[in-house]
Amino acid sequence: MAGAAEKNGAAGEKLPRHIAIIMDGNGRWAKKRGLPRKAGHAVGAETFRRIATYCKNLGMDYLTVYAFSTENWKRSDEEVGAIMGLLEKYLHESVEKMEKDRIRLKILGDTTALSPAIRGLIEKTDAIAARLPGCFQANVCLNYGGRDEIVRAVNRFAAEHPGEAITEAAMADCLDTAGIPDPDLIIRTGGEYRISNFLMWESAYSELYFTDVLWPDFSEKDIDEAVAEYRRRDRRFGGVKA
Ligand code: FPP
Repeated sequence: MAGAAEKNGAAGEKLPRHIAIIMDGNGRWAKKRGLPRKAGHAVGAETFRRIATYCKNLGMDYLTVYAFSTENWKRSDEEVGAIMGLLEKYLHESVEKMEKDRIRLKILGDTTALSPAIRGLIEKTDAIAARLPGCFQANVCLNYGGRDEIVRAVNRFAAEHPGEAITEAAMADCLDTAGIPDPDLIIRTGGEYRISNFLMWESAYSELYFTDVLWPDFSEKDIDEAVAEYRRRDRRFGGVKA
């Protein structure tokens, strides 16, 4: 859905409707302090809570974060366990607080490889989210890879429509992000300049913003700076300026 309508913020200036973030730098943040990597992820999870609330209060509709990729299983058992533990805790909290906070949580990715406990919690948050139409939506990508998402979508289409040729619209409807507008702005923290298999289909016309700030240090001010930069961009979606 390139070109999804943008909102106007309090100052009447265009606000991205959907921001997506590659939350990078947790490990380096911890290392600089002589702490284990999992300490960086724990602070990173707090940063996510703060930034989600801020984006909601600014009036955005969607925030999508890359929490655990299909490649992150290569990390040590201890680190994988720590990240899964943080996600499980967040899911538990969401079951308790989603309705009060008016935040719809959606998990994107291949959930089949996740623990039964996490899958059970996702079923619960999905059921609660269904009761919160129109609320700010936080999408957490978990066991997510852009290429994996595309392969799963194509296989799903082929199974549901044998012999039919796929179209862009049908493809979008089979992705984990079905029904969610494409991200207007993708932010990557931690000083690397790559997409790392994040939202490969959906990022076709997203504006990209890179910052050296490590994710645990990322603040509301950093969102303001990214949005200010976004406002300076000229989005043409392949067309020419009117
Ligand atoms: C990238 O930094 C970060 C991750 C792979 C994990 C991100 C997970 C969280 C922030 C916790 C998720 C919890 C919730 C509630 C969303 P890195 O470890 O690759 O950092 P480095 O590049 O400095 O090593």
